[in-house]
Amino acid sequence: MAETKDCHGNTIPVYAKGTVGANTIVKGAVPEGSVFSIKVNVTAKQKSLPVAGQFYMLRATKGKCLLGRPISVYHTEILGESKTEKGRLDASIEFLILKKGKGTTELCELEKNDSVDILGPLGNIFPDPKNVKLEKKITSNKNISSKSGAKNSTKKICIIGGGIGVAPVSGFAETLEPKTYDFYACFKSGKYGVKNVKAKKLIVTTDDGSVGIKGMLSAALDEKKISEYDIVYACGPLPMLSYVQSICKAANVKSYLSMESRMACGMGVCLGCTIETVDGYKRCCKDGPVFEGDKLIFLKPSACAEQVVAARKNKNVKPDLSVKIRDVVLKNPVIGSSGTFGFGTEYKDVFDVNKLGGISSKGLTLEPRQGNSGIRLWETPSGLMNSIGLQNPGIPHFIEHELPEMLKLKAVTIANLSGSSLETYIEGAKLLDKTDVPIIELNISCPNVSAGGAALGMSCEMAGSATKAIRKVTEKPLIVKLTPQASDVAGVALSCIEAGADGIVLCNSFQGVAIDIEKGRPVFDKVKAGFGGPAVRPIALRLVYEVCTAIRKLPKDKQVPVIAIGGIATWQDAVEFIMAGATAVQVGTNTFANPNSMIEIIDGLKEFMKRKGFNTIEDFRGCAL
Ligand code: FUM
Repeated sequence: MAETKDCHGNTIPVYAKGTVGANTIVKGAVPEGSVFSIKVNVTAKQKSLPVAGQFYMLRATKGKCLLGRPISVYHTEILGESKTEKGRLDASIEFLILKKGKGTTELCELEKNDSVDILGPLGNIFPDPKNVKLEKKITSNKNISSKSGAKNSTKKICIIGGGIGVAPVSGFAETLEPKTYDFYACFKSGKYGVKNVKAKKLIVTTDDGSVGIKGMLSAALDEKKISEYDIVYACGPLPMLSYVQSICKAANVKSYLSMESRMACGMGVCLGCTIETVDGYKRCCKDGPVFEGDKLIFLKPSACAEQVVAARKNKNVKPDLSVKIRDVVLKNPVIGSSGTFGFGTEYKDVFDVNKLGGISSKGLTLEPRQGNSGIRLWETPSGLMNSIGLQNPGIPHFIEHELPEMLKLKAVTIANLSGSSLETYIEGAKLLDKTDVPIIELNISCPNVSAGGAALGMSCEMAGSATKAIRKVTEKPLIVKLTPQASDVAGVALSCIEAGADGIVLCNSFQGVAIDIEKGRPVFDKVKAGFGGPAVRPIALRLVYEVCTAIRKLPKDKQVPVIAIGGIATWQDAVEFIMAGATAVQVGTNTFANPNSMIEIIDGLKEFMKRKGFNTIEDFRGCAL
């Protein structure tokens, strides 16, 4: 297998900034605008220029993604000697990029002269056919008659590209003598990426028959046809590569397959991109991306991630998003979280707050509180720290002034009950019990107060007795908001349910510390502060998953809904939490960043349910448990 070797005149990867020379929509790709050609201008030593088959980690410098994305080289053009850097060459490296996830979307949205972080060239290369040793003898009828072909190799070569996988094999084809190979290009629809291909035969297949032969690769190439070739080079989706492997094996034809995998570094150190082979796990970035076909082990289709959620047959559903917390019906599962949505009316000029499923009030204490001194907010990467200290007008004021306005809204009102001692919680609950508020959310999780708050939620015993005490003074639906700081969150949840909770809200913010490095002291007067936002989402999801798993083991009549909270910013996030067992979701920090996010989540959920054929939230709730 050919490899790039740094100290022998072959490619040496560099980490540098490139500049976008051009970014154009690739014509022929369907749907239009799904594939882009990005030419990146670089200045590099000859030995740091790519060889066909290699890839770069590319990241839009102005983008928000943390990591680069591995993108294969499609075409390289040396523009000449650099005028500014002696001994280096100016080159334009062209990539074809399928706009798919966040990273590729950021790349596809780059404009001319934008900066790109590039690390590369990386990976091994397609071996030169001349150097490929074949086990079987080349029969005379396999010889290629053209002179130029004979010069290149007497082996009969087949190149296969599927979808965006056409880019690296097309780049490789350019390095071969024209008309010394056949090229199969397979797409769902349309055709692109073959403009530099000078094949003896160019065969195109499309699933929809829009170009060339209708069908997948198998419609054009089978075991019998592949046996006419000596070497096969391929890149494309896994099912296609698996097919190529199987027909090559059956026909005893040598194959080299270029693989793709999720990777963080591209340098062989993160060990995240391993591929299963007969010789054990191999790193796609360093041991590949090109592997000998018969060495690869392909997972059975049943293990493919796309099949985790099976689409239902009925596509004409009118999804019902309503959920129930005890006997209270919320028209959808999206709730404005306490402390991030005031008293429900503040945002009413920005969007229609009546469309929300519910709104939880700012944390309420019996007495009015002015909150904490000093800095109260501190932004961190993908997160926000806060130390408000339960500033609120007090429960009597709330009942007289804010509650009547909240009750006028069509979203279900939830009163977030906080306190500085169990006694004040109880007194507050008694007052709320006399109102029309439909749900009380018992907050034993505020991280920013010296007494009460999270202190009451740290252990099963304390959380259980606080819930029991409030349950005694109110018949209203009671949901309990837990702290992620407890060592046994699932145990705490079960104690609250045992004590009479009608639902569990999971979770309040995490505790963090920030230091002002100019002043050399903690940012917050109370040192520790609450930490929320997208950064905490996977941890919150883990807690929800654990608590829902524990609740599922209870007898049916003891099972209560879990309302998830923790960095939820999009409908996809909401779906994840629902699949982990949550009945509803609360959106907190993200409302500050995008006030429309809750509406977008409701709309997105509706579309997702339509697409999947889910009639109700229950149809997919907990499916990942
Ligand atoms: O500081 C605060 O007011 C936070 C309240 C909470 O997290 O419940």
